[in-house]
Amino acid sequence: MKPYLSERLKQIKPSPTMAISDKARELRAAGEDVISLSQGEPDFETPDHIKQAALKAMRDGHTRYTSVDGIPELKSAICTKFKQDNQLSYDQSQISVSTGGKQVLYNAFMATLNPGDEVVIPAPYWVSYPDMVVLAEGRPVFVPCPAENNFKLTAKDLEAAITPATRWLILNSPSNPTGSVYSRAELEALAGVLLRHPDVLIMTDDIYEHLIYGDAHFFTLAQVEPELIFRTLTCNGMSKTYCMTGWRIGFAGGPEPLIKAMAKLQSQSTSNPTSISQYAATAALNGGREFLAEMLAAYEERRDTVVKLLGNIEGITCATPDGAFYVYPSCAGLLGAIAPTGERLENDTAVGSYLLDAAKVTVVPGEAFGLPGHFRVSYATAIENLVEACDRIRLACEKLTLS
Ligand SMILES: Cc1ncc(COP(=O)(O)O)c(C=O)c1O
Repeated sequence: MKPYLSERLKQIKPSPTMAISDKARELRAAGEDVISLSQGEPDFETPDHIKQAALKAMRDGHTRYTSVDGIPELKSAICTKFKQDNQLSYDQSQISVSTGGKQVLYNAFMATLNPGDEVVIPAPYWVSYPDMVVLAEGRPVFVPCPAENNFKLTAKDLEAAITPATRWLILNSPSNPTGSVYSRAELEALAGVLLRHPDVLIMTDDIYEHLIYGDAHFFTLAQVEPELIFRTLTCNGMSKTYCMTGWRIGFAGGPEPLIKAMAKLQSQSTSNPTSISQYAATAALNGGREFLAEMLAAYEERRDTVVKLLGNIEGITCATPDGAFYVYPSCAGLLGAIAPTGERLENDTAVGSYLLDAAKVTVVPGEAFGLPGHFRVSYATAIENLVEACDRIRLACEKLTLS
């Protein structure tokens, strides 16, 4: 029998973060007391008024196909959101709604990339970007953004990465995996470069927009440089802010021809996102965000706790990021260390495995995000879990013989 997997599929790998979460679930099912710091979703429930809206949608009979890329009520709520939160004016014809932010990005790449087109991806990056680009036969071009730059892309590095083959730049702020947030001035500097390269499209992944702490402020590129709105896809979604990961609603505002192309693709794949989720998302966007204050206070306290506890461990250094629910500590000081088993921790993947074995804590190794020597910790879990996990990590690290 001929091999049945396509060449295309062979080029990609399963999401490493999901693989680690699966492993944690497996170990737990086998009776191990594993603390997961690898999850990419809020640990809070979807607010009740959103659930009620879903129940009402079902009772009202909104259980059928809808228009492919979103019901008008939801598109209208999204236009209002963009206007109020980001000072961006979009018509409904410039809005796309999909099955999660993931599908928005996927549609955009599939609709625009030709073989060999380059996509500039600042590293560390969210794990799905490169594989989506590869599926669409594009070529990811990684730009390392080290800790000294707070893991952010500089204008100089962007300029150097752009070639005649560049089709897209992806920007993700607040960032998964680092929690870094671009300031207005930093975005202005990037916009200055992009204005000189009119063929480059820009995808801003703003899905963590509202998870931002202290004095930090969120800005998105098209807001900072309105001339770029004609070639920017401003992506967002319900998963993180509204704790709606399972409902699968993502959206974007962008140039109408691109939005139409994405709808064409979606019409031949999933069709509309779930009708009930769309009504729930409409209620969420129209309903205010009073519930967020409590969550943000909890996230901020957890962030500060984790940064402090990890920072006290020899071999680990941890900066304090401004957003999302991740920290991205360096484990450079642990590399080369010898475990009690005699095993040498050669890289961050070995550190991750050691922490799972010795501390029963899951983290995601930096290798998965394209900037090794670090690991990602998600603090979207109860503070008691975080304190216990950091304590276990400390004890495990104390058993290492550092080189
Ligand atoms: C940076 C980033 N973008 C997009 C997504 C996609 O989220 P969803 O498909 O749930 O909307 C995620 C989810 O983890 C993410 O971290």
